[in-house]
Amino acid sequence: MAEPVLLLQGVFKSFGDKVVTEVLKGVDLRIERGEFAALVGPSGSGKSTLLNILGLLDRPTKGTLAIAGEETTALGDAGLTRLRGRTLGFVFQFHHLLPGLTAIENVMMPMIAAEGRTAKAMVPRAHKLLARVGLGERADARPSELSGGQQQRVAIARALALEAPLVLADEPTGNLDTKTADQIFEVMREFNRELGVAFLIVTHDPRLALRCDRTIELVDGRVVSDQRHAAT
Ligand SMILES: Nc1ncnc2c1ncn2[C@@H]1O[C@H](COP(=O)(O)OP(=O)(O)O)[C@@H](O)[C@H]1O
Ligand SMILES: [Mg+2]
Repeated sequence: MAEPVLLLQGVFKSFGDKVVTEVLKGVDLRIERGEFAALVGPSGSGKSTLLNILGLLDRPTKGTLAIAGEETTALGDAGLTRLRGRTLGFVFQFHHLLPGLTAIENVMMPMIAAEGRTAKAMVPRAHKLLARVGLGERADARPSELSGGQQQRVAIARALALEAPLVLADEPTGNLDTKTADQIFEVMREFNRELGVAFLIVTHDPRLALRCDRTIELVDGRVVSDQRHAAT
């Protein structure tokens, strides 16, 4: 089988020194290239903690993680940052766009970080991404001039700015009404189908989970079910 885009083995995560809270209690997870998977589970079950570890934003207390075949355990902060930039895109519940920048400038931020300000192809690439999420005409709008759904579209375009093979999305539709949530979900699905980008999407909405190809359920820091299914 081809190398998975993400391979997590035996991961534990605890917080605290005096009072130790064990949040992840032995998680194994393998995500293949091009997968479109939902991560569900009750509030407090450890979904965000897990996503932070998968996103190289936090380190496990124990266990190993490889992203796109690269083992992360021995990497220092600079190595993690480089790997993160090359392989991962992020979408959060709140878009985290920079308010002083336009939509296209927000999309270009990861490109600037990786390639420097003068990279030639940057503007056309960012324009293409914005057009793909349906915002080709709003490139110069600031986040405050966009609706919640449009802001989230910009965030998705930004997540794909460096052609990451995997996007991690933590409740990306949690703050949106049902219709807008459906549209945002569809934007992610299109990137998945057309570009083969893998997605792992935390959602509370069972309806949206059913529209994925796979549902992983986390309860009390453990994966209690993991099923591939036909997307509705
Ligand atoms: N930095 C932290 N310090 C201490 N406890 C934390 C920290 N982050 C998360 N937790 C605890 O870990 C548990 C799981 O949190 P979280 O991963 O946010 O769950 P979910 O995203 O599934 O709602 C919660 O009990 C939370 O209080
Ligand atoms: Mg959470």
